[in-house]
Amino acid sequence: MELLLDQIAQHIQQRYGLEPKDDWPRVLRTALKKMDLTEDKSKDLRKTGLSDERLLQKLAGHLTIKESYFFRYYSHFEYLCSSIKHTLTENPELTSLTIWSAGCAQGQEIYSLAWLLSESLEARLMSRIRLSGTDLDEQAIISARQGIFHAWSLRHTNAFQREKYFQKIDELHYQIKPSYSFPIAFNHGSLSDYCAGLPDQTLDIILFRNVSIYLTKKARSALYKGFKRILKPNALLIISPSDPFPDEVMFQPEPEHRSIFRLNPTETGVSWNTFRSFSKNDHSEHVVDMKLIHSIPASGFTLVDPEAPALTSWPDLTGVSEKVMTRLASLSNGGQTHEALELVESVIRDHPELYAAYLWRAKLQLTLGNFFAATNDLRNIVFHESNNHIARYWYALAMELNGESKRSLLQLKILIENLKKLKEDDLLMDNHTTAKELLSAALERREHLL
Ligand SMILES: C[S@@+](CC[C@H](N)C(=O)[O-])C[C@H]1O[C@@H](n2cnc3c(N)ncnc32)[C@H](O)[C@@H]1O
Repeated sequence: MELLLDQIAQHIQQRYGLEPKDDWPRVLRTALKKMDLTEDKSKDLRKTGLSDERLLQKLAGHLTIKESYFFRYYSHFEYLCSSIKHTLTENPELTSLTIWSAGCAQGQEIYSLAWLLSESLEARLMSRIRLSGTDLDEQAIISARQGIFHAWSLRHTNAFQREKYFQKIDELHYQIKPSYSFPIAFNHGSLSDYCAGLPDQTLDIILFRNVSIYLTKKARSALYKGFKRILKPNALLIISPSDPFPDEVMFQPEPEHRSIFRLNPTETGVSWNTFRSFSKNDHSEHVVDMKLIHSIPASGFTLVDPEAPALTSWPDLTGVSEKVMTRLASLSNGGQTHEALELVESVIRDHPELYAAYLWRAKLQLTLGNFFAATNDLRNIVFHESNNHIARYWYALAMELNGESKRSLLQLKILIENLKKLKEDDLLMDNHTTAKELLSAALERREHLL
């Protein structure tokens, strides 16, 4: 069986360009078991399985990290909305503008963009937009098509957005309202296959965020070459701020946007300026927002996010009066961070045993860019409550932001080991986040740091 698992892993690496990980044999074994392809059938599997494209793809889907959430890197969407509006208005002959979410997970990023576009474009402009998404994981594509999401994916939405775009199915699940489920073509398959099937110069924008870190260098560079071929001259490629940069000869960063790239026109020999470049005054990326990938919501979002590892639902806060809690939430949500900090400090003075209050203070300190202070608070919580997995997650994040990558990695390692001991559906201390969800977020942070 071990040999078979190794062979499958090798095939998957070669076929889909995924960077192998230590836990692949374990994940593959579980996946095969779920498919009822156990040891006694492994002989057959060796004969047929390795050439069975569908099976390999299914197994590869089990190995990818499908961490995503709505409105991730909000500044990208703001940029795209303005840019697309300008392009469509200035180029009436452009019948369609095509956007592809490469590695779309359950579709969170492409739905986010669709909603924001529909709000900033008139219907006649919106009708020219074509949206698609591709992912290797079949289950992710099924969810994307159904528009059903776990609350964890909504953790950077505020109450207004949840009410507007979703209907709640149960405590943990939301479905996109029919009026907001735009026609998006979701495809199940590998990015290289999808790319190979497209004619030259087909796409205007590719979102390729948080995918390349999971690919081998070879696969990454082959994909970038493919993107160059299928993108129209001067088209845009969007990566995540912490992804490896594409080759500068092919793609050049936009001024002031270190994660938005434009296909280099000299590479294609054609030069027509489809997309407007923004000056610093038109739009500037929020450097701190981009760095605080999971912790601090992008501009315009509430700080205390009920879907994130939340403080408000923590039972240890019961000693604090309702009035103080409401005021604290309102100051934090309203962006009055300094005032919120003063109030939470008075809570800590009155209730020094309340670790949730320290966590609250740490989140406020992160918003203010006081990473060192946040790290101290979080270290204190983790020291006293070693099973407070959510606090350890924030602790690792605060250290990362404070430039202490090695220490951050160490905490992530401990966190990942602890979470793997739990059952996937076990609820953590906020009574909301499951072990699987936090594990997925922690694995992603680790990828970014390695
Ligand atoms: C971490 S998620 C990122 C989702 C989204 N782009 C975002 O930034 O929120 C990475 C996704 O890429 C998909 N993926 C990774 N390698 C792929 C490949 N070779 N072909 C298709 N999808 C792939 C994974 O299945 C996963 O859903």
